[in-house]
Amino acid sequence: MVYYSAAGNTEDAAGYIADLTSGTLFELEPDEPYTDEDLNYNNDSSHVSQEYADESLGDVDLVADTVENWDSYDTVFIGYPIWWGIAAWPVDGFVKANDFTAKNVIPFCTSASSGLSESGQLLAELAGTGDWQAGDAFPLHRQRKRCTDMAG
Ligand SMILES: Cc1cc2nc3c(=O)[nH]c(=O)nc-3n(C[C@H](O)[C@H](O)[C@H](O)COP(=O)(O)O)c2cc1C
Repeated sequence: MVYYSAAGNTEDAAGYIADLTSGTLFELEPDEPYTDEDLNYNNDSSHVSQEYADESLGDVDLVADTVENWDSYDTVFIGYPIWWGIAAWPVDGFVKANDFTAKNVIPFCTSASSGLSESGQLLAELAGTGDWQAGDAFPLHRQRKRCTDMAG
């Protein structure tokens, strides 16, 4: 269960899926974590807005991009927030750096309302290896509905 989470939603979803699958969690952490101000997409000059406007700025160095005993996993979940319709780019470096040959790869995202759209496909192209599945999205309105349903 490899995931990146800036504000905690994807971390919650990853924890939930890891519980259900007895998976091992691996959090992707940028060398320089994004602050709330960095993530302000309403501000054209915020860190993410600048990276979004200029793709060449979007290479994010990670604290670690290799997983211990990588060869022993045959299924890898990759979780991320949706940023402007695609996977938050801190996952790109991980996907590029690892060999997914003979692995089942299941992308999932959290978002305000978007689905996965092409995000999984784009990551599969970046990876170049692996059997990438359709995956699933956990938009917040659905999470809220699930909570409401549970509360009865
Ligand atoms: C820079 C940025 C861009 C976003 N773009 C979208 C978007 O295009 N569609 C959407 O539904 N949500 C969008 N969101 C909302 C996040 O996807 C959502 O809050 C997500 O659950 C955050 O995950 P996290 O708590 O793991 O960081 C965006 C959030 C940020 C910070």
